[in-house]
Amino acid sequence: MTRVNDEIVINGKRLKNRITMAPTVKFDFAGEDGKVTEKHIAHYKERAEGGCGLICVEATAVTPDGRFGKIHMGLWDDDQIEGHKEIVKNCHDNDVVAIIQLNHTGITANPECGEAIGPSEVETRNGGKSRAMTTDEIHKMQAAFVAAAIRAKKAGYDGIQLHGCHGYLINQFATKRTNFRTDEYGGSAENRARFGAEIIRDIRKECGDDFLISIRTIGADPDLDDAIEIAEEYVKAGCDYLQVSHGIGEIDPALQDDSKPYTIICSLGVHFHEHFKGRVPVSCVNSIFEPDQVKYIIENDLADTVDLGRAVLADPDFPKAVLEEGKSYVRCFECARCQYGPFTPHKCPAEMKRKNNG
Ligand SMILES: Cc1cc2nc3c(=O)[nH]c(=O)nc-3n(C[C@H](O)[C@H](O)[C@H](O)COP(=O)(O)O)c2cc1C
Repeated sequence: MTRVNDEIVINGKRLKNRITMAPTVKFDFAGEDGKVTEKHIAHYKERAEGGCGLICVEATAVTPDGRFGKIHMGLWDDDQIEGHKEIVKNCHDNDVVAIIQLNHTGITANPECGEAIGPSEVETRNGGKSRAMTTDEIHKMQAAFVAAAIRAKKAGYDGIQLHGCHGYLINQFATKRTNFRTDEYGGSAENRARFGAEIIRDIRKECGDDFLISIRTIGADPDLDDAIEIAEEYVKAGCDYLQVSHGIGEIDPALQDDSKPYTIICSLGVHFHEHFKGRVPVSCVNSIFEPDQVKYIIENDLADTVDLGRAVLADPDFPKAVLEEGKSYVRCFECARCQYGPFTPHKCPAEMKRKNNG
């Protein structure tokens, strides 16, 4: 039986255990220059000391128009490399594998940052319309992802993660819900996956065989079978590690097993693990707040690694509570809107409780 403390090696990178920190943007940490700040460094240092095996640094924009807002971390310029070296060093000093998530908002672009562009013309959140990218724009965008990956490598990261879910650009290409193209980037699953798959191939070419390439991919958008076909294309292109989350729109409720101690989003990773077992490591995520949930998933071989977002925002030492019997932790309060989220400067009540406890 696999245990949470067991290591796992992914493309030569040794994760000392089965717990990973999910990418979680710190909305009020960056400046308009997109550079790493002291706040980022301190935040990730605490989490690197907290015991997880891998940290995936938050969604980082590959071009300024692909940012969530005017203050958002980026890797579109060589000047942005330096600050990341400190984040990576703190991870490596604590025997933590460090990767960084690369993203573009696409159709969901913040109008303050740029035009809403994507695979097709669709209605945007603010009632406007996106513009379908030309083939030339697609190639330039892919090159921006690759250039950001090269900068990540220069900063010392062990690898990158493409943000391929949650309705952002790579997801927009992958799903039938927003991709209506009739060229080689639309239609079949192979064609819809092409945008992301070509990025993976080029990163592999530029960053080498030992660079860890992961994608956070859609688990069922519009359905599980299609999402698995998409992921197969990413794997064929050289992806080493699949982290699974949700895409755009409803998830088929039949994918949920109510007898299991995890959510429907988490179950997507479990379904992927069943499919990719023994070939590609798969992680699951969502609403895992109890050490026993992490142990249940790993000990029952339901995923290779468990990805934690809010649990480690609330308490960086949560992984220790999973790994060491009897260790206490401050549980995420599950605020209706996470207080690390985009609309308020963060004031996470669990984090405040932990700091008050001394
Ligand atoms: C404040 C905050 C920021 C987030 N930022 C990102 C991000 O940068 N990239 C991403 O893929 N998901 C992001 N997410 C989603 C989380 O990675 C995770 O999938 C989600 O919170 C569910 O996991 P959890 O219940 O363990 O928090 C964010 C979530 C929160 C609460």
